[in-house]
Order: sequence, then C-alpha cells, then structure tokens
Amino acid sequence: MKIAVVGTGRVGLPLALAFAESGADVVGFDINSDIRQAVNVKHRMPFLEPGFEETLASGSVHIGERIEEVGDVDYFVVTVGTPLLHHIETDLTAVTRVIKQLGSKIRPGQTVIMRSTTAPHTTHYVKKQLEKSSGYTVGEDIFLACCPERIVEGKAREELLSLPQIVGTEDPRSRELAETLFSVLGVEILHCNFITAELVKLFNNVSRYAYFAIANVLAMIAVDYDAEPYEILKLTNHNYPRPITSTPGFTAGTCLRKDFGMLSEAYWSADILVSAWRINESMPKFLVEAAKSKWGGLSGYRIAVLGYSFKRDADDVRDTLSDKVLRYLHRECPKELVLHDHLVKAADVPQMQDLRFTADLPDAIADADLIVIATNHSLYCEKRDLLLDRVNNSGCHVVDIWDALATGSVLIG
Ligand SMILES: NC(=O)c1ccc[n+]([C@@H]2O[C@H](COP(=O)([O-])OP(=O)(O)OC[C@H]3O[C@@H](n4cnc5c(N)ncnc54)[C@H](O)[C@@H]3O)[C@@H](O)[C@H]2O)c1
Repeated sequence: MKIAVVGTGRVGLPLALAFAESGADVVGFDINSDIRQAVNVKHRMPFLEPGFEETLASGSVHIGERIEEVGDVDYFVVTVGTPLLHHIETDLTAVTRVIKQLGSKIRPGQTVIMRSTTAPHTTHYVKKQLEKSSGYTVGEDIFLACCPERIVEGKAREELLSLPQIVGTEDPRSRELAETLFSVLGVEILHCNFITAELVKLFNNVSRYAYFAIANVLAMIAVDYDAEPYEILKLTNHNYPRPITSTPGFTAGTCLRKDFGMLSEAYWSADILVSAWRINESMPKFLVEAAKSKWGGLSGYRIAVLGYSFKRDADDVRDTLSDKVLRYLHRECPKELVLHDHLVKAADVPQMQDLRFTADLPDAIADADLIVIATNHSLYCEKRDLLLDRVNNSGCHVVDIWDALATGSVLIG
C-alpha cells in the first residue's frame, strides 16, 4: 500500500509514521523547510510528540516539498491546517490549494482522504473542487472519504493505534478503500456519510470546550463572591454520582477554540457555543481584574507569568491564552514582566516590549511580587515548594486558576 500524506505537521507527521510502522510505503509532503530538515536530515520530530524515535531514525519516511513530484500512490491523505479567519469563518486556503494540486495529478483508482478538521459541508466542496480540477468523477474514477483526526497532541502514537476511526463516504468503493487504509492501524472502523463525519469531529471538540466553560463560569462566579472554586468543586463532587467533570483554567489551543467557529459560521443566533467562547476567552481579563481588586494596582509589581504553551507539558503555542494575560498585565505598566516556559521555543514567544523571556524557573520568580500560572505544566506542580516559599517568605502573591500549587485558592497570598 502506497500513501502520500500532504501536510506533515502535528497531525500529518505522526499519522505518516504510524502508517509506515504498519508496513505501508509512505511519503510526506510539506512546504515547511524546518519540518523537512528535521525529518529528512536530523531524523527527529520537529515538535514534542513522543514514541516515533525509532521510525524516524530508520529514515523510512521522507518528506518532499512539491506534491507534483509524487510517484504512484494509492492514497493521498490531506492533513493541512484549517485555521479560522479573523471573522467566524474557516480559512480553506491550504485545503483549496492542495485539492487543486491533487486535481491535476490524480489518476483513476486513487483515493483522497480528508483528515483536516473542517466546517460542515467542506467535504462536499472538496468533492466538487476535485472533480472540477481533475475532470474525473468521485465514486466512479477516483475516490474520496472524510476521516477526521481525533487524537490529542502528545499521545498521537497511542491514540492512532486505539481510537475508533470515523470513515465518512458517499459511495461504496470509497467506503471500501478508506476502510482498507485504516485497517492497517488495527482500529475499529465506524462508517457514516461526509456531514456526519464532520459533525462527529467538531462535537468531540466543542463539547470539551463547553464543559470547560462550565468550570470557568463556576470559578468566575465563586471568585466574585469571595468563595473558592476548588472547594466548591470538591464538595459538589464528593460521593456524588453526577459530578462536574471539568476544572477551571485557560481553555484555548488551536483545535478547541477554532472548532466552535466552524460550527458557528453558519448560524446568526447566539447559542451555547458562543457563550462558551465568551466565557473561556474572558478568563485572562477576569483574573487580572480580580488580582487588582484584591491587591491594588499592579504598576509597581515585578510579575512572572509561568507557561506559554496552550496546554500542559506541550510546546504548541497556537491560540494560547497566555498571550492575552501578558497583554493585559503589560497594560498595568508593571515594574517588570517576565515570561517563563521551559518547553516552547524562544522563537515562538511574542516580541512584546518590556517582556523578558526565560526558560529558567528560579530566574523567572527570583524577585517576583506576583506570579501568574498561565499553563499548568507539571514542572510548576513539582516545584510547588519553591513557588510557595516566595509567598510565605517574600510576600509574593500568586494567581493560580489551575490549583497547580494545591492550595485550593485561586488568589494566593
Ligand atoms: N493539532 C492537533 O492536535 C489536531 C488534532 C485533530 C485534528 N487537527 C486538525 O488537523 C489539521 C492539521 O492540524 P495540525 O495541527 O497538524 O496543523 P499544522 O499547522 O501543524 O500542520 C499543517 C501542515 O501543513 C503544511 N502545509 C500547508 N499547506 C501545504 C501545502 N500546500 N502542501 C504541503 N504542505 C502544506 C504546513 O506547512 C504544516 O506543516 C487541522 O485541520 C486541525 O484542525 C489537529
């Protein structure tokens, strides 16, 4: 089986490697030279995603630059990015470019698999664009399936080999060919049509986004009443059969935030997803205002913000809410603003005036009057004593929406 994976980022590269490990003949394509260099020359992952070291070292997957150079393959798997535009609208630029390129290259018998996350009806658009650019008919000459990716970053290898695979098709041959492809991963296959596959993927993400909004609104209401959210959660859930399963935090990241937009782009009315978006997006501002009302203006403070990636123990900074908290804190004109993250690359950190970046935790907090834990990296939990020492012995305050320091308080000190 020969497979071309187009777009070897955080989704495409692990998938390409998993297919290769299952015995398929795989080639990747990416316009990003850093990714090609990391895989082809250095034989390592260009980002944090453990488990593929041996396969990378074997050099069995090569990443090319131009899809036009692809040899004879059975499948084209499309895994390019689908961000939101500034308006509530999916940016299909990368998808359209790739489908048009494939249109001029595809031959009868070949199959296109849409793996990128897309708004409802995008696979129907892809079908029309593919037929227009190739002159072939989907279901007769060439084949098409919507098989969305549902892994979580950091656990790609484990989840690619265990999560059931949604296979959305609208003709029998595409259904059969898509099933053959994913069977090599040894996972359960669940069949449906295009729109159902798109909606399954989007609701897997937006339901999590909405669950987190419940915990976040609980936290904001509790703090407004001078109550502790984590005490409320502990009591709501203690020996109670219908617990609240999410906890408060900075809910963001490229998938959760944008997938709400993909569902909302076709609806004019405010709904539960728009409310979840407003709640989750308001958390950074809410915490800065709460800190000001508890401790007074922050202009004389030396402030350390801990964590820049959008989630725990990751190096992915896309759509991180740390950005927002940094901007709001900067507007308070503090004496010093320091950002710490030991996992993200310095090049991914914003070039903000007066912001100092460090990967060294003791350096970040050495003189801090206020510490804001923006990402709940394991490191901050492990160094709990070090951080609490600044509170107990130096009068430092901490904003800890994650309860990383296990004090049960959001505003500590
Ligand atoms: N990151 C996740 O955890 C995750 C999980 C599930 C689904 N998804 C979805 O998967 C898709 C990809 O996400 P990602 O996180 O891997 O994005 P990414 O930005 O890491 O990867 C996309 C890659 O496509 C490449 N690319 C763009 N245009 C190209 C072209 N014309 N030819 C070749 N390569 C091209 C980019 O250079 C980039 O490396 C998105 O739709 C996303 O919503 C992501």
